[in-house]
Amino acid sequence: MQMVFDNQASRNNGAWGAVYMTKEELRSPQVNIVDVSLLPKMAEDANLQKWLAKFEGSVEESVEGGSKNKHGFITTNGKKLYDDSCAGCHMQKGEGAQGAGYYPPLANNSKMESKYYIISVIINGLRGMPSFHSMMNDEQIAAVTQYVHSDLNNFTDTVTAANVVQLRHDFPPGADPSE
Ligand code: HEC
Repeated sequence: MQMVFDNQASRNNGAWGAVYMTKEELRSPQVNIVDVSLLPKMAEDANLQKWLAKFEGSVEESVEGGSKNKHGFITTNGKKLYDDSCAGCHMQKGEGAQGAGYYPPLANNSKMESKYYIISVIINGLRGMPSFHSMMNDEQIAAVTQYVHSDLNNFTDTVTAANVVQLRHDFPPGADPSE
């Protein structure tokens, strides 16, 4: 059996109404006909909050410290950045994975001694690995590099945003044909 949508019944059953105003009032209404302050705000939506907490506001535009970060993350917590953006391929403890592709381990990997190597791979990508050039700003790349360098390995260099600036170039890889 097919349901036929009854427009008139829907109008009668649903919430509808009218506001009666004099011509005088209509010319300069004392109050908004719809009081927008009573409408629930998107920012207060519980589901949206959960979503934002999970991705740390990654849907929001964030410009921190003047660095570009158009559609990336807002957190500068290295572990959180790692969990959200690296662990999917390199696994939670950096143990790497071998499946359809090969994801090298980042833990106990002697190449992680060079912070510049890590920064360069994050900025430029590496064959099967995507570039995070436009996803993370300098502080964030520094934070996640520090996490890989020191937490997943036991190296003790300090990684700073200035180190990232040294290697960063204006265009994401592949964006500028003259590069
Ligand atoms: C979509 C999967 C994917 C994601 C996400 C990813 N990687 Fe990778 N990564 C790879 C692959 C695949 C390689 C190996 C590339 C190759 O050598 O061909 C790699 C290589 C690397 C290397 C070089 C390892 C070595 O031994 O030379 C580093 C460092 C690295 N990734 C860090 C990161 C960090 C930090 C993040 C998160 C910001 C990240 N990756 C996110 C797939 C990924």
